[in-house]
Amino acid sequence: MEQFATVMATPKTSLLSTIPSDKARWNVLAAEELDHFNMDWMGKYRGKSSCVIKPKSAEELSAIMRICYENNIAIVPQGGNTGLVGGSVPVHDEVVVNLSSMNKIRSFDTMAGTLVCDAGCILEVLDDYVANEGYMMPLDLGAKGSCHIGGNVAANAGGLRFLRYGSLHGSVLGLEVVLPNGDIITGLQTLRKDNTGLDLKQLFIGSEGTLGIITGVSIATPPRPKSVKLAMFGLDSYEAVQQTFRTVRKYCGEILSAFEFVDADTFNVVMNSKVQSHKNPFTEPHRMYVLVETSGSNKEHDDEKMQLLLEELLESGLISDGVLAQDETQIRALWAIRENIPESLGHLGKVYKYDVSLPIEKMYDLVDAVKLQCQKHRILGVSPGEDLVLAVGGYGHIGDGNLHINVAAKGYLAEVENALEPFIYEFVASVRGSISAEHGLGLMKADKIGYSKDLVSIDCMKRIKRVFDPKGLLNPYKYLPSRN
Ligand code: FAD
Ligand code: MLT
Ligand code: ZN
Repeated sequence: MEQFATVMATPKTSLLSTIPSDKARWNVLAAEELDHFNMDWMGKYRGKSSCVIKPKSAEELSAIMRICYENNIAIVPQGGNTGLVGGSVPVHDEVVVNLSSMNKIRSFDTMAGTLVCDAGCILEVLDDYVANEGYMMPLDLGAKGSCHIGGNVAANAGGLRFLRYGSLHGSVLGLEVVLPNGDIITGLQTLRKDNTGLDLKQLFIGSEGTLGIITGVSIATPPRPKSVKLAMFGLDSYEAVQQTFRTVRKYCGEILSAFEFVDADTFNVVMNSKVQSHKNPFTEPHRMYVLVETSGSNKEHDDEKMQLLLEELLESGLISDGVLAQDETQIRALWAIRENIPESLGHLGKVYKYDVSLPIEKMYDLVDAVKLQCQKHRILGVSPGEDLVLAVGGYGHIGDGNLHINVAAKGYLAEVENALEPFIYEFVASVRGSISAEHGLGLMKADKIGYSKDLVSIDCMKRIKRVFDPKGLLNPYKYLPSRN
């Protein structure tokens, strides 16, 4: 079968010798600073790059890309390096192009709510900026304090409010992209409607740095809601979680902005974590927990809706217990329980992360099946001190049909990985789900795309890759299988 072009790229970081007199201009880092850029957020993937470049403009990046193209030097684009699939760090000694020095807001239209900014702007910084004008970023995630908007677009990140504000495929209005040969697509338009030719920006959204490097983003920001309510409920079964979701949609559908679920194992990891202390809002333990957020423009209207919802949920016996945040501090405290899950699990052990889309009614079957599979492989439930698996947690964005299964283990060990894979991928494929709901494919799932996409689609993707990156220099070994 055909060999994919990426293997051509065997960089020797001759780039450094190509531009020695330009060191200051290119901001080339010293050797001791490199570790941070070679290791991913989970400590699972580590590259050996000896060259990290932080361009300050699309033009600088264009010049560097041209040099790399001419010299067959492979490149890994990197944003905040919070990706969870090994896409943002080198596999070997690829040059890392980190966008953090491109962090300027270029313009904000206060009438239309359209923001134009550099790709290296941190999501939370942007959200604070647009908040001053009465707007909000259309996505929110636990990594908001570190991830870049360019990284979000490249990964097509989903997050906590996808349910309400939708995909970046809808909110991104334009992109500036430097192509592998150094050409620049200057597509930073702010138009809501534009049917002139192919909508090329869509190809870069979710392309995980394999087609071009995003240097600028133009994005529509929605008005910041005046009234935000947040409740957390304790429930006794996954069936009750589903019924609650139905009821919440019935009572609060038009103001619903998040519906997240966390199972007891995950909740307990957060409560017992040393990372950050959390006050348990419940006196009794529950099997499942959900967070329900509404965002609207009229406080009285939203209060009334939430009140009716609570009455219905309590009367029907769907929830066993619940808390309603009374102020901004309580809202933050409840969200912190959900947002600190990844970090808390990471402190418990080395985490195998699976981010899947499934029919909602099948979601928790997978968590149960994974626990059984671990027991069958004698890595869980054998003896507390000796189990290789420390916790199996299920949580996620239930409103989007997106489950996160996290298996915290004593290490990244073959016994654990062999028990989980391809078991999880096969389960997901058997219910026609997706093996990557929002985290992407990266290095972790480059060879697994076939579980969710047909051969013709994969072949089309490979051909598109060759159009933009004929030498296979951009983010090699990631995203697409090297062989059919
Ligand atoms: P990086 O990790 O640096 O890169 C991600 C990918 O994009 C890589 O393939 C990289 O090569 C490429 N890339 C980065 N910048 C560019 C660029 N400018 N041009 C081209 N390619 C680029 N994801 C979700 O979808 N939903 C969540 O709720 C969510 N929560 C998270 C919570 C935590 C605590 C953490 C650690 C991660 C979470 N993530 C989540 C995963 C992650 O995808 C997001 O954090 C984010 O989108 C990655 O942005 P980044 O700037 O860190 O990109
Ligand atoms: C989340 O929803 O918390 C994120 O996608 C990150 C994760 O699952 O670790
Ligand atoms: Zn998520």
